[in-house]
Amino acid sequence: MKILEVIQRSAEFLTKRGVSSPRLQVELILAHVLVMPRMRLYLSFEQLLTEPQLAAIRSFVQRRGNHEPLQYILGVTSFCGLDMTVNPRVLIPRPETELLAERAWKYLLSLSESSVAPVSALDFGTGSGCIAVAMAAHAPNAQISALDISDEALSVARENAARHKTQVLFYLGNGFSALPEGAHFNLIVSNPPYISKTEIETLDLDVRDHEPHGALDGGIDGLDYYRLLAGEAPRFLLPGGCLMVEFGDGQAGDIQTILEQQNWIVEAVEADYTQRLRILIARCGSV
Ligand SMILES: C[S@@+](CC[C@H](N)C(=O)[O-])C[C@H]1O[C@@H](n2cnc3c(N)ncnc32)[C@H](O)[C@@H]1O
Repeated sequence: MKILEVIQRSAEFLTKRGVSSPRLQVELILAHVLVMPRMRLYLSFEQLLTEPQLAAIRSFVQRRGNHEPLQYILGVTSFCGLDMTVNPRVLIPRPETELLAERAWKYLLSLSESSVAPVSALDFGTGSGCIAVAMAAHAPNAQISALDISDEALSVARENAARHKTQVLFYLGNGFSALPEGAHFNLIVSNPPYISKTEIETLDLDVRDHEPHGALDGGIDGLDYYRLLAGEAPRFLLPGGCLMVEFGDGQAGDIQTILEQQNWIVEAVEADYTQRLRILIARCGSV
């Protein structure tokens, strides 16, 4: 079978299964299997595919037809210009989280310029390690630590740190209890689980049925981890330290209230590239 025919048939199949952008999805699968840039497919429509190539494509298209996210099928996604290994044990890094990572490494770079002591950051709930690895890659003089409650997620995060030749200290455990005695940071950054229990059932099938619920579930109102960070993060911040968090639609006001009740000073609430409020930056008034 020729490339064009495979694209057309597979896109038709994905359309029937209710997958969005079906043709693009198929083209990305073919580009991956054939190890060629997607645009080159357009110059190769008449190329005949071998049986092993067709078998691989069929299996990937079948999986995508079952709403498995393309990133899990391909095993990789891009984050801040870095390829990150992903599998169903970790949340797929989202484009909006790139903004949080960028804010974080720029803050570390600016601190490094004005400080002789090494600067440090903790990524709370690191998942694939995307934020921690991006910080370590872009602010190479900073000491980056990361924690997660999932051992399986940490093994993906370790793989990503190695993939980009970055040094990140990883800790396994429930929240701050994962950290060694005396750990303190200039910055704590987190994209915690923030979906409310009721909302989880209403998510797209790709997310609801395939991404780890431990990475999504933020408790009854989705705000459990902000309460935890508001209450516990000050003990792990150096004087003048900073907290940067990502949050979901409509949560900004509640999170600001939670933090202010715990004596935090909210310095900024920023929107992502779709103009949705997405990031909050705060300093602890009592530190
Ligand atoms: C929304 S995901 C974020 C992953 C990654 N930082 C990102 O931005 O793509 C949240 C992560 O927090 C971890 N997590 C959930 N509860 C935790 C806890 N009590 N202690 C530590 N990590 C936790 C989950 O395993 C998951 O990897």
